[in-house]
Amino acid sequence: MKRHLSMLVVLFIAMALVVTGCQPAAPAGGGEPVAAGPGEAEPSGSEGEALKAKIGIVVPLSGDVKTFGESTRDAALMAFEEAEGIEIEYVIADSKCDAQEAFNAANKVISEDGVSFIIGEVCSSASLPISDLAEEFQVLQISPTSTSPAITVNEDGSTKEYVFRACFLDPFQGEVMAALANEMGATKAAVLYDVGNDYVKGLAEYSRDSFIEMGGEVAVYEAYTKDDTDFSGILGKVAAADVDVIFLPDYYPKVNLIAAQIQERGIEALLVGGDGWDSPELQLDLLDGGYFSNHYSPYEERDVVQNFVNTYREKYGATPDALAALAYDATRILIQSIKDANSTDPSVVKDAMAAISYEGISGVITYDEQHNPVKKAAVMKVEDGQVVFYKFVAP
Ligand code: PHE
Repeated sequence: MKRHLSMLVVLFIAMALVVTGCQPAAPAGGGEPVAAGPGEAEPSGSEGEALKAKIGIVVPLSGDVKTFGESTRDAALMAFEEAEGIEIEYVIADSKCDAQEAFNAANKVISEDGVSFIIGEVCSSASLPISDLAEEFQVLQISPTSTSPAITVNEDGSTKEYVFRACFLDPFQGEVMAALANEMGATKAAVLYDVGNDYVKGLAEYSRDSFIEMGGEVAVYEAYTKDDTDFSGILGKVAAADVDVIFLPDYYPKVNLIAAQIQERGIEALLVGGDGWDSPELQLDLLDGGYFSNHYSPYEERDVVQNFVNTYREKYGATPDALAALAYDATRILIQSIKDANSTDPSVVKDAMAAISYEGISGVITYDEQHNPVKKAAVMKVEDGQVVFYKFVAP
């Protein structure tokens, strides 16, 4: 089996003692042991011993969509640093948003590094093989951002016991996109999608079905493949059909490419996409006037959101994107579940996770029976070279 190099970084957040319940805030990484105060309970079964968790961050750090992995990693590390009452040792592996690479990376962090928990992957098609390994090896996986329904359910419809996510699902996201086009007065649509990508193909179907249900017509429904770079054939059909909206449910590199060719041909239509647009590398000039569905808005005024945005900006010098927001949520959900369970045994922690109630950056998270959160979407608009908040949509 092809083994891929992973960056091995070990961090000890020096917290020698664990106390249950609330603790006074300690500076992240400050190295000060936290002592249990008088009358405070010690974790049962591990008198005075810290909870020690070994966590794998499995994300795309190279390849087409590396900004997804970078944001995810950076926010997860921030959450690790802020964690109190737990010692975290972590490993980072590059899974490239690819099914085979993700399988190899997850296999490596499980069997060589011995992690009990995995945060990742970002992309649905890469999270899927990891979920099979998670089930097989009883390693608890939480994907921050994989929105395809199949991630948490087996083919027979039963829930994968060890697999969770921190994001809403694509049937909802497709509906948000379709409703937006509908509200803007669009009646005739084109949907262009990568037939080999579970997330893109699924989101194309959901937005098409929703748009039709809302009374719209889908005049062009065209597939392409990952390696296609010339869209003139498809765009010829789009131009001939004279559509008023084009759904582009792909990740930002392909969206940039197709948008450039739409502009070159002088096709004028509303452009609508999903969370895959969210990247500092999205070419805003090509997508001006477009909308995309996303998971959070950095402009939301809730304290937890503003604290997160400010801390992240100070640390990394950039406004956190939705990948960062969801990675921060996923990591904190994992840490809270470990603490709630007072155990680092994934078979115990998974039950605590299933029962969690967590106020996150992306909303309040509780899990349904298929380990999916039910949450609002944030619609973002591309305007004058910026991504601005448009509105929230409740499920
Ligand atoms: N939802 C995408 C997928 O499942 C991943 C993604 C989430 C990308 C959020 C960007 C922002 O593949």
